[in-house]
Amino acid sequence: MCGIVGYIGKRNAYPILIKGLKRLEYRGYDSAGVALISDQQALNVYKTKGKVSELETFVAEKDISGTIGIAHTRWATHGEPSPANAHPHYSSSARLALIHNGIIENYAVLKEKLQSKGYTFKSSTDTEVLVQLIEYIQDKRNIDLLAAVQLALREVIGAYAIAVLDRDHPDVVIAARKSSPLVVGIGEDEFFLASDATPIVEYTDKVVYLAEEEIAVLRRGEPLKIVNLHNVECEHEIQTVALNLGQLEKGGYPHFMLKEIYEQPDCIRDCMRGRINVENTNVVLSAIIDYKERLLAAKRFVIVACGTSWHAALIGKQLIETFCRIPVEVEYASEFRYRDPVIGSNDVVIAISQSGETADTLAAVELAKSRGAFIYGICNSVGSSIPRATHTGSYIHVGPEIGVASTKAFTGQVTVLTMLALTLAREKRSIDEERFLATVQELNRIPDKMKEVLKLNDTIAELAKIFTYAHNFIYLGRGFAYPVALEGALKLKEISYIHAEGYPAAEMKHGPIALVDTEMPVVVIATRNDLYEKVLSNIQEIKARKGKVIALVTEGDTVISKIADTCIELPETIECLDPLITTLPLQLLAYHVAVCKGMNVDQPRNLAKSVTVE
Ligand code: AGP
Ligand code: GLU
Repeated sequence: MCGIVGYIGKRNAYPILIKGLKRLEYRGYDSAGVALISDQQALNVYKTKGKVSELETFVAEKDISGTIGIAHTRWATHGEPSPANAHPHYSSSARLALIHNGIIENYAVLKEKLQSKGYTFKSSTDTEVLVQLIEYIQDKRNIDLLAAVQLALREVIGAYAIAVLDRDHPDVVIAARKSSPLVVGIGEDEFFLASDATPIVEYTDKVVYLAEEEIAVLRRGEPLKIVNLHNVECEHEIQTVALNLGQLEKGGYPHFMLKEIYEQPDCIRDCMRGRINVENTNVVLSAIIDYKERLLAAKRFVIVACGTSWHAALIGKQLIETFCRIPVEVEYASEFRYRDPVIGSNDVVIAISQSGETADTLAAVELAKSRGAFIYGICNSVGSSIPRATHTGSYIHVGPEIGVASTKAFTGQVTVLTMLALTLAREKRSIDEERFLATVQELNRIPDKMKEVLKLNDTIAELAKIFTYAHNFIYLGRGFAYPVALEGALKLKEISYIHAEGYPAAEMKHGPIALVDTEMPVVVIATRNDLYEKVLSNIQEIKARKGKVIALVTEGDTVISKIADTCIELPETIECLDPLITTLPLQLLAYHVAVCKGMNVDQPRNLAKSVTVE
């Protein structure tokens, strides 16, 4: 995963690099490092285990001069997090320094080859092989850095976004990418480089997203040059990014996750802006209209995604099947890509990804595309790899999500899926007008209802204190509430490290009910809908075994409050929109349990925001 930052220009590089790394910490945070060519022409590399703040402490007394530098925050794939394995990596002679995001799959073969020529290695990473290989090629052939990088990358199998410095040429940064993202920012006589635009927007809004196997040459006093691995110059388009800096800060909240939970009413409004028109009671997702024929001709939809986005996909399946009567399959992208799926030109594949960079989802998109399927992306990060690889799609427009636990992106994805299903259903005439109207009007009321739910924050914080002892949780729901149960369980485990299982409520009696005892908290989504009575019976089954039931119910419910240990009352809505309401208290519950346990909410152990390795 890893975050990459680079700078070359007239300013001191170090503060720009450190600030940039902090913005990219969501991509990985087990070690960090920086390389600078100092005012005395020394190539200094400083790196530590831990977060960027630890790197700052480490370099306190060091020479951090220099107007050219690269920096990295790591999420280890090869070799434990340690100072030696942290990036940047020096070449043997310490003339070159390199940072890398991705995996060099054939590193073992390359390493052996270099070792047989006398090269020694200081780290156990795949990355160090690359910097040694570049130096080896450069020395052997007596060629410049660009040519050596091109030749080295032609030998590499795998994924990379890299940046390289050469102590003997302090006027150039060479950067390249394949399957890992890289953005170049163009300022006045200066260039920035980063894994996404967030470290750049403060200085310039002009960016170039590098394409596959492109190499950027960032040379002082010269315009940006982009070439491919065979040194053919590539055309590039300078784009303008519109990212608001305020969106990248915590804005008074103790954690990004809490801020992002609270942003949901506004985010969902933004997501619907210009797309739903309540006066004319219409929903229009322009991508659906533009590709109407292709979408309506589909025999089936397949949704690919990972993690939370996969949970949104499960809700999308129910929405599309209910409204459009088109069969939908939901697949983990990582399974789909490796099992030779039956997929072809009659299929529409929807790829859902907050980051737009998830390696498995991107690979699933490429596979489905190569088999002739039509690809529709639902992403948050504008200009990221998945939206660029799809035929069309819709952004969720919820702003940058920094907390590793996905919150507002989930509700944004569900909102877009609802609008997609409604737009398509109307085109297909598979929904009656009354239901269409009622759903659109209710969707428009959701942001206000979310605000009501957020008022329960203090109550949920109190509730969380009771359950910090628990080692296990069960989450149950049926129908549209089942994916919400999965999502609630995922939130809890990823930030509080409490084991949690999400289950379809009725499935519980086929196994998990054996886990229920007086200590076991069971969260049940039991809002009023057609399945209410069934869920009620499931709650009785848990209570008969003395489980502790925390029930999410509809305001005014007097039945479940008599049986459950705790009830959280939520505003009423229609069944298909219930996930947009019931998810919020589960996000808050996970958040407060993690806070009570003193966990690092925004950066939980072993995780990273953007999983750009498979
Ligand atoms: C959610 O809280 C997770 N951190 C994770 O499951 C995430 O949803 C998954 O990695 C997919 O990411 P994407 O949406 O950026 O593709
Ligand atoms: N493979 C490199 C390492 O382990 C980079 C990791 C990554 O991009 O996640 O250091």
